[in-house]
Amino acid sequence: MFIALVIGAVFAIMQILLDARNERKDLSVHAKSILDYAGLPAARAAYRLDDVGAHELVVSLLSDPALVKAEILDETGLTLARAARTSTKPPSILEQLLLGSGAEMFARDLRIEQANIDVGTLIIELDPVAAAPGFQQRTWNALLSGLLKSTILAFLLTAIFQLIITKRVTRLAESFSSAAKHKPKTARRGDELDLLEERVLQSTNALAKAVIEAQAPNKTKSVFLASMSHEMRTPLNAIIGYAEALEMGIGVDNIERRNSYLKNISSAGKQLNRLLGDILDFSKIEAGSIEFEIEDVSLAETIRSDIQQLEEIAAERQISLKTDISTEEMVRADQSRLRQILLNFVTNATKYNFSGGTIIVGVTARPDGQQRLYVKDSGSGIPPNQIQSIFEPFVRADNNLPDIPGAGLGLAICKMLAEGMGGHIGCDSVVAEGSTFWVDLKLSASSVSSRKDSASPIA
Ligand SMILES: Nc1ncnc2c1ncn2[C@@H]1O[C@H](COP(=O)(O)OP(=O)(O)OP(=O)(O)O)[C@@H](O)[C@H]1O
Ligand SMILES: [Mg+2]
Repeated sequence: MFIALVIGAVFAIMQILLDARNERKDLSVHAKSILDYAGLPAARAAYRLDDVGAHELVVSLLSDPALVKAEILDETGLTLARAARTSTKPPSILEQLLLGSGAEMFARDLRIEQANIDVGTLIIELDPVAAAPGFQQRTWNALLSGLLKSTILAFLLTAIFQLIITKRVTRLAESFSSAAKHKPKTARRGDELDLLEERVLQSTNALAKAVIEAQAPNKTKSVFLASMSHEMRTPLNAIIGYAEALEMGIGVDNIERRNSYLKNISSAGKQLNRLLGDILDFSKIEAGSIEFEIEDVSLAETIRSDIQQLEEIAAERQISLKTDISTEEMVRADQSRLRQILLNFVTNATKYNFSGGTIIVGVTARPDGQQRLYVKDSGSGIPPNQIQSIFEPFVRADNNLPDIPGAGLGLAICKMLAEGMGGHIGCDSVVAEGSTFWVDLKLSASSVSSRKDSASPIA
């Protein structure tokens, strides 16, 4: 709109300037026609030096409204006749600007052609404003009409612009709305793709899981074989090595050495036997082919009956073993399996302890009514993030020194045994302070009723 107005104003001004130029041109034409018309009589008057005739001529010339002065000079340049008048109406600023501020002078030499002599000069002065009647009016008209035209043009342009833009915007909006209408379709397609992707992912995951599951027994088998071959080879090598030494006569003369060799062969044999027993146990329990003889068992009695064997195991590493039995209540358990767990706990408490350390084997009542058999040691402890995994088969914690033998089966067997008896196994441990391994078992019915009896008031 503003641009259209400016364009309109520029056009109007250009039109006015053109008009003014034409007016100035017209002034020259006008002056020429006066000089043409008055030239000959003025020349005659000047030739004759007829000042009366010359005067009449210049006065008659003033009848032209544009003429403000007319003068005839003789051949010497002296005024023969002169007539002048002042403009009736002072020019406006606009007229002054466009047409000029003062009268414009035109002159012509006067000649008698037949005699070929110059006789004088005719001088006229024209008022450009008076010579352009209606110029000011025309200027205003041009300006106003220009502005009007430009305003109309501006409106027209705005309308066209709006029409085009609106149309485009509408079309755009329509396409957006149609896109929005179609969006559900695309979204549905997207959803379908998402769904498909999800299904593919699900099936891939399921497949991967299935593959992993299918491979799991193989993996377990490989881990088992790797662990076993190492664990079996160590005692076997010891047996073979010491037996060969004796065969070759080494240490035969030295009874002490011979006995020590034989002792090593025997302990390696036992270790091998224990390992084979563990493997057998583990595979039997895992296959579900082991039967539990659940009966009322006293945890305190179990400890007491095995204490000598347990003390001996601990003593091998100069570890003192104490008991802390705070309850004599009976639990539901398989006595032999319970002893197996206790033996495993104490063996570990010795293996992963420091020489001169301590072990406490105890029984305590749990707040939930169960009985806890526990083995507490002052050993290396287990990092918190590994406490759960050590109950899995063939898993050993980072606390193992390279020379501590083990297949990582003991606790896995204990867990399966504990759970087979309806109990729970667990461990509390602090690195460098020690660990407490425990198994919680259900109270026997007799113990439960005797608890009730002791709790009920005496009649
Ligand atoms: N009392 C304990 N103190 C510290 N770490 C222990 C203790 N008991 C078990 N652990 C850790 O748990 C791991 C698993 O024990 P687990 O008895 O199952 O296997 P193992 O002792 O290594 O071998 P084995 O099959 O001969 O028993 C051990 O290797 C050891 O790192
Ligand atoms: Mg062990």
